[in-house]
Amino acid sequence: MSDMNDNRLQIAVLLGSTRDGRFGPVVANWLLSHFARREDMDADLIDLVETPLPTVFPVLGEPPASPEARELLAAVSPRLATADAFVIVTPEYNHSFPAVLKNAIDWHGREWHAKPVGFVSYGGFSAGLRAVEQLRLVLAELHAVTIRDSVGFQGVWAQFDPAGTATDPACDVAAKTMLDQLAWWAHALREARAVRPYSA
Ligand SMILES: Cc1cc2nc3c(=O)[nH]c(=O)nc-3n(C[C@H](O)[C@H](O)[C@H](O)COP(=O)(O)O)c2cc1C
Repeated sequence: MSDMNDNRLQIAVLLGSTRDGRFGPVVANWLLSHFARREDMDADLIDLVETPLPTVFPVLGEPPASPEARELLAAVSPRLATADAFVIVTPEYNHSFPAVLKNAIDWHGREWHAKPVGFVSYGGFSAGLRAVEQLRLVLAELHAVTIRDSVGFQGVWAQFDPAGTATDPACDVAAKTMLDQLAWWAHALREARAVRPYSA
């Protein structure tokens, strides 16, 4: 029993939308329902509305000068540091991902290193896939490993019933595939980091 608990993966779910009237929480809560069905991983939802981050960066290599900025970071950074893996829930804004998400990514470095990242995207025609492809480029710079299979909701407003259930069962299949791949990489990289600490 304890072995199983010790082996559970900690997954930080980063919700990348902070817009007033946003649809993001519907998508994030649907994803959390998938975690609730699994015995191999626990999710920690990081909602950037509840835990906003500063937007003024410090001198390179120095901590933020203001105590307020340090306090905001303290609510997020340790959760990213302890995560074995990440899932980013992102809408598509102008063929990319929201600026608030880039801000959250840029505040962190080693927290991303040698860890896997999966994606759930949503938007209009493109299902947020252009946002995901751009995130892959950014995360490669941060020594993260992005998961091939993702989940995308095209025309997201019509994809959920009032209870927050995805109306297309293919999306549930896609979520399981993505999380299974994420689990494989998260275990593999956690074991590898323990044997040979990642240095970059
Ligand atoms: C500033 C902005 C830009 C958008 N650009 C795109 C886009 O390029 N492609 C697309 O498919 N949908 C686009 N959309 C639609 C969003 O993906 C959709 O409204 C989604 O619900 C936004 O996520 P949110 O509700 O969590 O903020 C855009 C929406 C906004 C607010």
